[in-house]
Amino acid sequence: MSDANSKNKYRPIRSFVRRQGRMTQLQERALAELWPRYGLEPADELLDLEQLFGRPAARILEIGFGMGDALAEMAQAQPDSDYLGIEVHRPGVGRLLARLAEQGSDNVRVFCHDAVDVLQRQIADESLDRVLLFFTDPWHKRRHHKRRIVRPEYVELIRTKLKPGGIFHMATDWQEYAEWMMEVMSDAESFENLAGVGQYSERPSYRPVTKFERRGQRLGHDVWDLLFKKV
Ligand SMILES: C[S@@+](CC[C@H](N)C(=O)[O-])C[C@H]1O[C@@H](n2cnc3c(N)ncnc32)[C@H](O)[C@@H]1O
Repeated sequence: MSDANSKNKYRPIRSFVRRQGRMTQLQERALAELWPRYGLEPADELLDLEQLFGRPAARILEIGFGMGDALAEMAQAQPDSDYLGIEVHRPGVGRLLARLAEQGSDNVRVFCHDAVDVLQRQIADESLDRVLLFFTDPWHKRRHHKRRIVRPEYVELIRTKLKPGGIFHMATDWQEYAEWMMEVMSDAESFENLAGVGQYSERPSYRPVTKFERRGQRLGHDVWDLLFKKV
């Protein structure tokens, strides 16, 4: 087997492609100046959330926060909760840091890395109250379905990181992905659909309308929220 083939064979299937989007000066500066305050580096040890935030509090993780507007808004609206955000898109991370500093939020910490890797290596079991996955890439072509983050092995990973009674909250504007999520979650062990079997939830008041959601609305898309409790 050629070297190139053997490399491909072992390359993990990611739920993202790194977009090349240009960084604005503000985002560059925010990353350089504010990373020490908000940023977390991937490592091979579990995060001690109590030590990190310096207090006991509800712990909420947003996977793939995009430009970070929803995360910043939630963190400001709920200063008594602590937030972890994970996103691979650097301009979005820069923008979030700028906004957090501007609004004076200290209850957020951020990884610029693959969320699956962070969950596997650094998040302790039963340490999260809520995991948020808003308008995650639908990977709508059939041959790309394997990239979808809502699939049984990742749902199980998220389940182990949630506290008993913790919530996994997904939202999407792609109907076929909503139905896929419903099927995967309904088959998953130890989760209860808060809206009742096979039903979608109303948007909870804590979830802001996100950038991708607004784009979907302009295209006439509906939105589906799914809230599942770990039982
Ligand atoms: C379609 S965008 C939605 C962004 C935002 N949640 C919103 O609603 O505006 C999905 C985001 O998830 C990020 N993403 C996908 N898989 C990820 C992963 N495994 N780790 C970190 N970020 C991921 C992508 O980089 C992208 O920015």
